[in-house]
Amino acid sequence: MKKYRFMLIGCGRISKNHIAAAAANRDMMELAAVCDPVLEKAERKADDCMQAAGYRPKVYADYHKALAELELDCCSIATESGYHAQIALDCIRAGKNVLVEKPMALSTRDAQLMLSEAKAHHVTVGVCHQNRFNAPVQQLHKALENGRFGKLVSGTARILWNRSMPYYEQAPWRGTWAQDGGTLMNQCIHGIDLLQWSLGGEPDTIMAMTGNYLRDIEAEDFGSILIRFKNGAIGIVEGTACVYPKNLEETLSVFGESGAAVIGGLAVNRIQTWNFASPAAQDAEVEKLAGTDPKDVYGSGHNSLYKNYIEAIDSHTSPLVSGEEGIKGMKIILAAYKSQKTGLPVKFDDLDFSTLDMSHEDVRVN
Ligand SMILES: NC(=O)c1ccc[n+]([C@@H]2O[C@H](COP(=O)([O-])OP(=O)(O)OC[C@H]3O[C@@H](n4cnc5c(N)ncnc54)[C@H](O)[C@@H]3O)[C@@H](O)[C@H]2O)c1
Repeated sequence: MKKYRFMLIGCGRISKNHIAAAAANRDMMELAAVCDPVLEKAERKADDCMQAAGYRPKVYADYHKALAELELDCCSIATESGYHAQIALDCIRAGKNVLVEKPMALSTRDAQLMLSEAKAHHVTVGVCHQNRFNAPVQQLHKALENGRFGKLVSGTARILWNRSMPYYEQAPWRGTWAQDGGTLMNQCIHGIDLLQWSLGGEPDTIMAMTGNYLRDIEAEDFGSILIRFKNGAIGIVEGTACVYPKNLEETLSVFGESGAAVIGGLAVNRIQTWNFASPAAQDAEVEKLAGTDPKDVYGSGHNSLYKNYIEAIDSHTSPLVSGEEGIKGMKIILAAYKSQKTGLPVKFDDLDFSTLDMSHEDVRVN
């Protein structure tokens, strides 16, 4: 396999996972450039890459310049969420594959445009939902694919975390409608992606109640969502940035007529319940999973996600978290916002909504 040449656009907090992934996958990729308008941040990442992977990428302040000057195969986008769509479109239109941090965009129109432009330019979009690669989550999916749950009834995603005011003050784009959304869009989207993926992947109707209880931000710091899937199963989301005094757990549960699985821990990394009507060879593998909590809630799934993305491009197949997959969690959350705004259930397929449509909503709960 040839070595794929990447540029990392955005050298903030999550960029360390991208550097680690570049190092872990050095046999199949090279980080040709790192880019950030705050040049010191890009320089620091280039140094980090030197340490981790043994080479120093070029440093750019302007990704347009890098796109014009360098031979690149892929661009990874890790800027503020509100910039993802425009940067992705620029890269796609320059013929580059795009691996974008979650959420892929903040509006259904932008996300759909990214997908249609990628198709037109024959490039692949991937979205960073790295928790799909957690070993317990992969086991859950094997059980689903093998039909071990029987008829699916329900599932839950519970994201019970704490994001304090200093977290928001550190990066003022967080919690704004223009650049981020609230805790559902920022923190809970991974759990929501796992829930929709586990319950059939075809949401039908969404109802939600959200609110801002404790944090001085525009968007919600708590959200509850009900999702009816086309196969009849119901997904329940409880997402909060307000758990006192620190992150408690992120848990995914799936319940069917002949199976029940609960994966908890700090970030869906620990199998807590694994009950099936009929035993299978995989049960022994599940028993061996240590399920230790990751160092931070981002986990280390970026390494596997990059590997899967590069292999998919190389073999002209779809990555596990393609753009078509990545759009679903984002769309469920936008539907939840619309439901909060209108007080009505929202149909998933027809949705046309943006976080900006919430700009004039007061979601504060006094
Ligand atoms: N997958 C995950 O688990 C995970 C975790 C944290 C954050 N994220 C996502 O990653 C993204 C970044 O989050 P963060 O916490 O690292 O933010 P951050 O504010 O720490 O970093 C964003 C960086 O992007 C840079 N940037 C802005 N415009 C740019 C441009 N035009 N070109 C290049 N760089 C530019 C900023 O200068 C900043 O350094 C967000 O979309 C967030 O939702 C994902």
